[in-house]
Parts: sequence; structure tokens; C-alpha cells
Amino acid sequence: MTPPAVPAPRKLFVTTALPYANAPFHIGHLMEYIQADVWVRFQRMQGHEVHFVCADDAHGAPIMLKAQSEGITPEQLIARVGASHTEDWRRYGISFDTTHSTHSPENTELAQSIYRALRDWRPSLIGTKTIEQFYDPVKGMFLADRYIKGTCPKCGAQDQNGDNCEVCGSTYAPTDLIDPRSALTGARPELRESPHLFFRLSDPEVVAFLERWTKATPLQPEVYNKIQEWLGDGGRALNDWDISRDPPYFGIDIPDAPGKYFYVWLDAPIGYLAALKKHFDSGAARRAYPGETRTFDQFLADPGVEQYHFIGKDIVYFHTLFWPAMLHFSGRKTPTNVFVHGFLVMASGEKMSKSRGTGISPQRYVESGLNPEWLRYYIAAKLNERVEDLDFNPDDFVARVNSDLVGKYVNIASRAAGFVDKHFGGALAYSPKVAGELAHAARDATKLAADAYAARRFGQVVRDAMAIADRINEAFDQARPWTLAKDPAHRADLQDACSRALAGFKLLTVLLAPILPVTASRVAREFFGLGRDFTWADGAVLPDRVGAYSHLLARIDPKQLDALLLGPAAAPSPQPSRAPSGEGGNAAASAPAAVKPKAGPTPAAAAASPSPQRGEGQGEGADAATITIDDFAKVDLRIARIVNAEHVDGADKLLRLTLDVGEGRHRTVFAGIKSAYDPAVLVGRLTPMVANLAPRKMKFGLSEGMVLAASGDGPGIYLLAPDAGAEPGMRVK
Ligand code: MSP
Ligand code: ZN
Repeated sequence: MTPPAVPAPRKLFVTTALPYANAPFHIGHLMEYIQADVWVRFQRMQGHEVHFVCADDAHGAPIMLKAQSEGITPEQLIARVGASHTEDWRRYGISFDTTHSTHSPENTELAQSIYRALRDWRPSLIGTKTIEQFYDPVKGMFLADRYIKGTCPKCGAQDQNGDNCEVCGSTYAPTDLIDPRSALTGARPELRESPHLFFRLSDPEVVAFLERWTKATPLQPEVYNKIQEWLGDGGRALNDWDISRDPPYFGIDIPDAPGKYFYVWLDAPIGYLAALKKHFDSGAARRAYPGETRTFDQFLADPGVEQYHFIGKDIVYFHTLFWPAMLHFSGRKTPTNVFVHGFLVMASGEKMSKSRGTGISPQRYVESGLNPEWLRYYIAAKLNERVEDLDFNPDDFVARVNSDLVGKYVNIASRAAGFVDKHFGGALAYSPKVAGELAHAARDATKLAADAYAARRFGQVVRDAMAIADRINEAFDQARPWTLAKDPAHRADLQDACSRALAGFKLLTVLLAPILPVTASRVAREFFGLGRDFTWADGAVLPDRVGAYSHLLARIDPKQLDALLLGPAAAPSPQPSRAPSGEGGNAAASAPAAVKPKAGPTPAAAAASPSPQRGEGQGEGADAATITIDDFAKVDLRIARIVNAEHVDGADKLLRLTLDVGEGRHRTVFAGIKSAYDPAVLVGRLTPMVANLAPRKMKFGLSEGMVLAASGDGPGIYLLAPDAGAEPGMRVK
């Protein structure tokens, strides 16, 4: 048998986006890590040299404010969240070679030197402009749009965002708001001037470079088209990029502008390089690849090194305009490509039973004993190379894992291994003709799968693998091994049937190894006795013996999953794409456009932003589909008096509220507002509640309804209150 041709080893520098260090991961984050990790593991199995790094994105106003609201320093907050991120990467088998933080000496040094290089490249590339923006005199800080609320200048709706109205949909500048208020303190903001530094994205030379880079880069078509829109009209639609922020700010000092900080999105992507620098300086790169003797700078500058960034569709603007421009005009190499994915969204209401709520916390998932490889498998099975959203559908999740992964793939080994162990002492045997055919088919299958993996068509890999598993199971059934086993005259036939099945099982395990690393490693080491993990070439090598089969992967018990799915009154754990807490709900998720910038009404505006923090951090509320008045009437909103409020032992987000809704009895409701309220101040207050929400059994007791609170992208949670005169039990309509 001729070994498959070995492609020349490539040298790859791969990253995912750097997660904000303000909250634990939600399941959408996990999707990005799983996508990148599967791709990286596939490349490593091919024998390529891969340096896969990540870091926490630790700077910016939201992190500073969140730390303040918790009474801790930003350093303490990012350390705590960082530990949770590292733990989740480990639990989900995300094989970063090195992880780091943007709040690090490497990043400070790199950000400052890139800035200096940009400034020195041509003085006009970085300019100063004095801008006028809202300032909160109580808090003593300039306010990003998202921290300003007020009355819509178009329709008069109260309590609207600083840059758009959720009632009439119009967009405006915060200065247009009637009666603007600081969302942080409620104070009336003042307009103040401050000089800001701008990167001249609209400079003709920058635009010309971006046009060249875009054409020379094999971008996904939807990404390419979006960039063309942004670059349209010779780049006239592009706006200069405000890269400085005034104190108080948690960020990196700008070398020649005392008292100013880099806007978090300037130093965030530089964090990719900082993580790689740590990876080289710590010796980790060399330990992984002893032949890799270059320094960080040499490696990064090598035109033979390919640089890939996996990112979500909400941050394309930053990665295809600012980032390549920053790298190029500071004299560095630009990314080889940017791989953009859509969002993981929870399946629409109808598809899920009511009791199943709306989301899964990846932390609770693991802590409840569910297997991370199930989730890796399900997500990989849904991923492709396009920028499209994926539905997380719990029923589909259970079905695919139980019937496909376990029912088809694992089943092969558990059926065949028993016979081989009992009758042949673990030995496999093939007639020469069969061996040739099997090896040939296996080579074809690995070739197809390799092409699909390389192109990020993981769903294709999984579909093809399951089709192969079907054929193996059918052939095994047709051979009737249980009948053969009864007749010593059919020993050879039995061994043949089992050997074919197990050769197929080995092939499938290699094909699925990037997705199921733990399972594949056990199969390689324990079942096939290889003493090492599989490489890609192992897929086409027929095994000659197997060890005893031990249980590999269980089925999901749907009850386990039910117990996990969060309900609305539970702790407001961040949900993908729903944007309740600003901790990861990214507005773009529900937007129809394939690629939408992180925040701000248009990318140009996001960049243009006369007010500093626009585009920073997370998006604004998602567009909601309209409902009829009848739909709304189904919600029984009542005024409740909080007769008691207390902490709940063991719950870090919940308060237990005792409510009087004028029904002659009290209700208990658990509310995720602990971070914002001392229970003592709540007693006696009136607040609206959803009175006809189905009661939910929670770990701490039964919750009989839901109180209503507002939250935006900042850390605050604000309980609603009726005007004076309202009484418990009154209907809100
Ligand atoms: N800190 C920035 C990225 C800086 S990169 C130099 C950021 N952080 S994030 O935590 O909000 O998002 C991290 C990544 O997760 C982004 O690529 C984002 O698109 C992705 N996702 C956030 N929500 C997601 C889903 N619901 N589904 C899939 N990916 C999601 O943006
Ligand atoms: Zn309006």
C-alpha cells in the first residue's frame, strides 16, 4: 500500500477573537472556539506547525465600570473572569498553545510601538481633532452613547438609547435627545470639549491599500461584498477612527499624549501579537516544535507564515479595515485571511417546550455532568464556511448525539469488538482483496474529509462520516455475525465481518478526531493500542488487532438537558445574541445582514463617531419581531409590593423576593438582581411583575413570576417602578 502523499508542512499562526474579560462565556463564544479548535487540530494531524493563541480582551470602559460596581479593581475582575475563561477552554478541549491578556507588558509594548510606527510613517496618518461630547459631572467621565438615555427627538418615546430609538427606529446623535441623562448616575450630562487622536482611515493611501488587500485576500464572498460597500465610492464613506479616550479609562497610555489612553479596539487585536510573543518568549513555541528556533519577530515577519483570525460577523469591520491597515502602515505583515462565522442563536420559541427556557450556560453544562464532546459534535455538525447563523435546537442536539454519534459511530465498535475479543483474542484479518479495497476506500474518504476540513465545511465531514457509518452497520447486519458466531465453520467469515467493521471504525475515528479529541485519543491508545494519538494518515491504515472494548460515549438523557435549560426568572446568565446584559449578547445576531458591525447604526458611523466609545464592546438591543396587541395581552402584568427581599444561600446572582400582588397571599420570585441591589432597600417598593408566568422549579425553590428590570450594555440593572398612586394587584397594560 502506498502511503498518502504528505503535503509540505505549513507554518500557521491562528487566533480566535479575544473575549471580553467581563463575564464568563456563553455558548456562542464556545461555538467560535470549537470552530477554530477543530480546524487547528485537523491541521496539526496533517503534520503542520500550528501556533494557536488567544488572550482576554481586558481593557475599556465596560470592564472598568463593572469592576467599580462590584467594588473591586479592574485587575481583580479580569483575573477572576480570566480564570473562568481558562477553565472553560480546558473543559471544552480548546487546544490553545498559549493564552494571555491584553493587560500585559507585551501588549503595552507592542501597542505603543505600533502606534509610534503609524505616527512616524507619515505625520498626517494620525491626526488630532477636538470633539464635543457628553460628560457626566457626577461620575466625572465622558459618556459613550450607550451610557446616555433620553427622550427620542422624533417620536417622544422616553428612556431611549443615546443613538437610536427602539420605538420608532430612528437614529440620531446623543446631543439630539430631549432631556438626556447619564445612564450611570441619572445626572444631566454636560457638553465638553476634548482633543482626540484619529487614525486617518479615509486617507487615499490607506483606502488604496485596503482595496489591494481586500482583492488579494481570499475572503468569504459575503465578507468581500460587505467590505466593498464600506470602501465604496473611493472610500468616501469611510470615516476616520477615533483611537484615544480620556480618563478615567482602563487601558494603555498613549506615549506622546499624556493622560490619554488607547481606545480598547486599538490594543485588542494587537493582543493577538502579544499572545504570540508570550508564546515564543516563554519557550512554548520551541518546546512544541524543536525546529522552530526563530524569535517572535522573525516568525511574525516571515512571509511563509500564514496568519488566520477566526471571528464573528459583528467584528468584521475591525478585522478587515482597521487591523490590516494598522499592521501594514506600521510596517508589518498583514493577515493571510480572516475566517468569519455567523452567530449561534437559540432555536425559536415554538421549537422549544416552555419549560426549556432559552439558553444553555456552558459552565452549568459541564458542571451538570454533560459531556463537552457532545456539544463539540453538535456544533461541528452544523458549521460550514459561510457567514450564517446556526440554531441551537435542544431536541436536534439530543437526536444527533444519540442517534448519529452514539447510535451509528460508537455502536460499530461496541457491536464488533465483543466477537473479536471472544473468538479471536483481539486479532483482525483481511483477505488481500478486501484489504486493498478497504484501504482504497479509506484513502478516498480521508481525502474528501481533508478537503472539507481545510475549507471549514465541518458539517460535510460529519454527514459523510455518518453515511460511512450507515454503510458499515448495514454490511455488518447483512453478514449476520450473531449467526456466524454459532457455527465454527464460519469462523473466517465472522472475523472478516468484524475486521471490516473495525477498520471502518478506525477510519471514522480519525475523521472525527479533530471534533472528538478525547474520544479519539482513547480509541487510539486504549482500543487500538497505538500508544499515541492518531495522525491523519492513520485513517487509511488497516488495524490488525484491538484491545477489549470499554464504554466510549454515553447517550444524552434528555432529562439532563431539560434540567439545564435556563428559564427567564433564573439568574441572568449571558445568553448568546439576546443582549440582555451587555455581556455578550451581540445585537448583530438577529440582524438580517450577513455581516454587521458590532455597534452603531452603520459601520461608517461606528468609525466616525464623534463620541469616543461608540463601537466599543457589545451591541445594542436586538431588533425584535413585532407582535399584535393580542399577543401582548397574554402577558398579565401586575403591580407588586416587595414585602421582603433576601439573599439566597449559594446563589451568586439571585435575590429571593416575597411579593404582594393583591391576591390575599404572597408569592416568591427569584430575581437575578443581586449584583445591583442591597435587599434592604427593596423592601416596601412597588414594581411591575409578570403574574401569569408558569411557575418554575429552581434549585432554591419555586419561582412564581418575574419582576421587570432594565439593563443595557453597562453593568447596571434597574428595577422598574410605577408612579405614585399605583397599588399592588393593579394591571399594567
Ligand atoms: N473583545 C472583542 C473581540 C476583540 S478581537 C481583537 C469581542 N469580544 S466578545 O467577547 O464580545 O466576542 C468574542 C467573539 O465571540 C467574537 O468573535 C464574537 O463574534 C463571538 N460571539 C459572540 N456571540 C456569539 C454568538 N452568539 N455566536 C457565535 N459567536 C459569538 O467582540
Ligand atoms: Zn422614537
